[in-house]
Amino acid sequence: MHIDLTGRTALVTGSTSGIGQAIATALARAGAGVVVNGRDERRTEDAAAAIGEASGNPGVRAVAADVATEEGADTLFAAAPEVDILVNNTGVYGPAPVFEIPDSEWRRYFEVNVLSGVRLARLYVPRMVERGWGRAIFISSDSAMMTPTEMVHYGMTKTAQLAVSRGMAQSVAGSGVTVNSVLAGPTLTEGVQTFIGELFGDEVPFEEAERRFIAEGRPTSLLRRLIRPEEIANLVTYLSSDLASATTGAALRADGGVVPTLIP
Ligand SMILES: NC(=O)c1ccc[n+]([C@@H]2O[C@H](COP(=O)([O-])OP(=O)(O)OC[C@H]3O[C@@H](n4cnc5c(N)ncnc54)[C@H](OP(=O)(O)O)[C@@H]3O)[C@@H](O)[C@H]2O)c1
Repeated sequence: MHIDLTGRTALVTGSTSGIGQAIATALARAGAGVVVNGRDERRTEDAAAAIGEASGNPGVRAVAADVATEEGADTLFAAAPEVDILVNNTGVYGPAPVFEIPDSEWRRYFEVNVLSGVRLARLYVPRMVERGWGRAIFISSDSAMMTPTEMVHYGMTKTAQLAVSRGMAQSVAGSGVTVNSVLAGPTLTEGVQTFIGELFGDEVPFEEAERRFIAEGRPTSLLRRLIRPEEIANLVTYLSSDLASATTGAALRADGGVVPTLIP
């Protein structure tokens, strides 16, 4: 298969690190113009420069904006009004006992992980429909289907993304625009490294903590290791392409087999 995204513009939210950075790099390598996003101006520009260099694509640029806010979404839209591929990747996570999570945290998780993507889709997807082509992809998680006891608020947001993306796909049926979610499994990013460190404590070496995290926390993993961000990016790149024209309203897994159900 040859994936060529030349002539397409992609926006990847939260792409200064982790899975978002890997997705932005993969899309840029496939030829798309890419808007890199994070909250901090300097960090976002540095990430865009690194992605531009790694991909050899001069069409990579930075737009710093906090996508958890309406102003942030407006900033992005003003700076990049024509987007063909929207990847709602930004997300926060961290362990917290469910009965101790205050309202403010429930709201913050919803705003950052769900409403950010809803807002951007509301801005961009109708324009994709007018042009007759587009891709909106929500980066969800195995936690959407297997609520993690140690972060129920996070699981709630990842399940919500599946409903949002399915409903949006239904709303643009027959338009040439597809909307899907990708269920990423446990992936080795800085955020996860910190999360695992918090779970097991700094005194446990990371390799040991990683092994214990998979064995105790994600025992259904068939991969038996943390996924690499590039492995998520590969599926997102395919979904972003013309080749994935028949896949819409779907929840696709790049989860290392963690979710034990047969479908999806
Ligand atoms: N890693 C995993 O194991 C895993 C598994 C399943 C699903 N996922 C999902 O994959 C996505 C990315 O996870 P990750 O592990 O790669 O995260 P990460 O390494 O913590 O990176 C998060 C990114 O989001 C950005 N960000 C955070 N809040 C933002 C905001 N309000 N506005 C704009 N950017 C913001 C950060 O940029 P700045 O700090 O520069 O602003 C950073 O680039 C999340 O949706 C997560 O739920 C991850």
